[in-house]
Amino acid sequence: MKMSLAQGITRAMGVVILMLGSVSIVLAQDAGLARTPPMGWNSWNHFACKVTDADVRSAADAIVANGMKAAGYIYVNIDDCWQGKRDEKGVLHPNEKFPDMKALADYVHSKGLKVGIYSSPGPKTCARYEGSFGHEEQDARMYADWGIDYLKYDYCSFKGDVDAQIAAYVKMHEALVKTGRPIVFSLCQYGMDRVWSWGPTVGGNLWRTTEDITDEYRSMAFIGFGQSGLERFAAPGHWNDPDMLEIGNGHMTHDEYLTHMSLWCILAAPLLAGNDLAKMTPETLEILTNPEVIAVNQDPAGIQGWRAAQEGPLEVWVKPLSDGSKAVGLFNRGESLMPVTAYFRDIGVGEAASVRDLWAKRDLGVVRDHFTTQVPKHGVVLVKVK
Ligand code: GLA
Repeated sequence: MKMSLAQGITRAMGVVILMLGSVSIVLAQDAGLARTPPMGWNSWNHFACKVTDADVRSAADAIVANGMKAAGYIYVNIDDCWQGKRDEKGVLHPNEKFPDMKALADYVHSKGLKVGIYSSPGPKTCARYEGSFGHEEQDARMYADWGIDYLKYDYCSFKGDVDAQIAAYVKMHEALVKTGRPIVFSLCQYGMDRVWSWGPTVGGNLWRTTEDITDEYRSMAFIGFGQSGLERFAAPGHWNDPDMLEIGNGHMTHDEYLTHMSLWCILAAPLLAGNDLAKMTPETLEILTNPEVIAVNQDPAGIQGWRAAQEGPLEVWVKPLSDGSKAVGLFNRGESLMPVTAYFRDIGVGEAASVRDLWAKRDLGVVRDHFTTQVPKHGVVLVKVK
């Protein structure tokens, strides 16, 4: 399908419909999945190719014990490097680090969590393990038999133009739908070919918009602050994905991790923790589980925020919330403490409004016309304005 066709797309009751003049075609049914941005954990950012069955079990244990599950983190997702070889029937077996995938999925489910897995539309994954090319239905059936709830489908070695790419994603989506099991479909192709404009039509519940994040302020800020403009492509069931969280992985400052979390919440981005959950500082856990900040991300209206104003390194971002209030991030990308001002006219707020600091969990009273606050280097003040 050409992208120009994708313009007459509408959504009703969880169904994506393509309208061509008087003809409408149902393209995909989102099965009510991912009505708010998916929350959970993914093995890649911390464990990369070393991930084992034991690491995944320990992440599941931790997510329950440390309160993350209660805060909304539900998906425990295995990324690349779980795969072994295909047998003569084409069945893909996990490698020796994953002795029994069904037992692992049962274990994760027994904790009231959901479990995710990873593959590629190409013959090889990004780490050169077996992909699903030519085995889509077989793999999808196997995932469903194991009890998989989420698939990250990573472009990697796939070759072809945008039409071939779209067909490959449709093929796997149809294979997933055919299993009858609701499985969140996460597209990963680094934002090529304006994926946000056709992601929903191939059944994508989320799609990566960028190259891989790394645990550095430069990488996180480049990706996060670069998302403005994509907001009209996000909606319940269909999210822009600026990649997984690096919070707690150790190479950013506390203020930088607060910026990471605040920005991802304003962006209505998936919140997939990428650290070692079993070895986390209380500060990291506090950043990941602040309920008022998570409520911004999980707001049922599902509106992605945008940059409302910028003055040099100082940026004000806004996300409208379902109760009529606004989440507002005052960011300082500069190298020293600076005052940042959010003018109410920029963020669409009337004459006077009450302001609450969501990280400090403190009401700041009623303010007129604008709100000014000191923001540390690479830091943020995140407020709710009503
Ligand atoms: C790509 C993806 C990453 C991760 C690796 C695994 O780089 O973008 O998120 O899944 O592959 O190999």
